[in-house]
Amino acid sequence: MDLEFSCLKPEEIPIVVSLHITNLGNTLNAKLGRNHLSFLYLKMIEDPDSTVYIVKKKGKIIGAASATLNSNNLKAYIRREYPKKLLPEIIFKNLIRFDLLLKYFQFRRTEKAVLFNKKRIYPTLTTILIDENTTGGGVGKSLILKVEDFFSRRGVDSYKLAIQKKNKNAWGFYMNSGFKMAEQQTRHSFLLIKKIQHNKSI
Ligand SMILES: CC(C)(COP(=O)(O)OP(=O)(O)OC[C@H]1O[C@@H](n2cnc3c(N)ncnc32)[C@H](O)[C@@H]1OP(=O)(O)O)[C@@H](O)C(=O)NCCC(=O)NCCS
Repeated sequence: MDLEFSCLKPEEIPIVVSLHITNLGNTLNAKLGRNHLSFLYLKMIEDPDSTVYIVKKKGKIIGAASATLNSNNLKAYIRREYPKKLLPEIIFKNLIRFDLLLKYFQFRRTEKAVLFNKKRIYPTLTTILIDENTTGGGVGKSLILKVEDFFSRRGVDSYKLAIQKKNKNAWGFYMNSGFKMAEQQTRHSFLLIKKIQHNKSI
């Protein structure tokens, strides 16, 4: 397949945000809206300890994956930088939607480091999403390898991710891609962990 990988550029954020809302519309960040998501992607591009990869097919963006060396540091950075003009919208959405507030507290727990083989694991795959018309063609796996290359170059050998219990499709993908169950975080979510195989080609 003719795939082209690159780091997300600011002008490409609207397309990735649309993909995110279509494919991960049930997540807290997607529910908090387009402006909120755009800001998160922008900060991840700017943060030297984070990255966002995109994949294009015939020039069209068909997938994205984001990762960070430490999700707690990333969150603190985003909080510090969060634009005041977006706050009323976020507060209002949380006030009228109790389920969002609940998701927020559940989400906080999935950000913590996970203890694995007596080591605390902070590096995190924060998002992976592929255009629903392209799934099943190996694109997700290629993006995972890109993220692992980013981690390897920074001396990371294991990383984590949070998954919703009901996301059966992603479970199959992660189990097939070498992830293992680390711990249950909330009633509805788990943390998975993966040790990077350093000899994989990118
Ligand atoms: C999950 C997702 C990223 C997978 O991407 P993808 O491009 O379809 O996956 P790939 O084609 O690269 O699959 C890689 C391997 O996993 C396997 N796989 C993928 N989905 C699977 C499933 N549901 N069950 C079992 N195996 C699965 C593939 O067969 C393939 O195996 P192989 O390497 O032995 O051939 C994609 O479906 C997606 O974006 N889903 C919506 C967003 C989402 O849920 N993201 C995860 C949030 S935690």
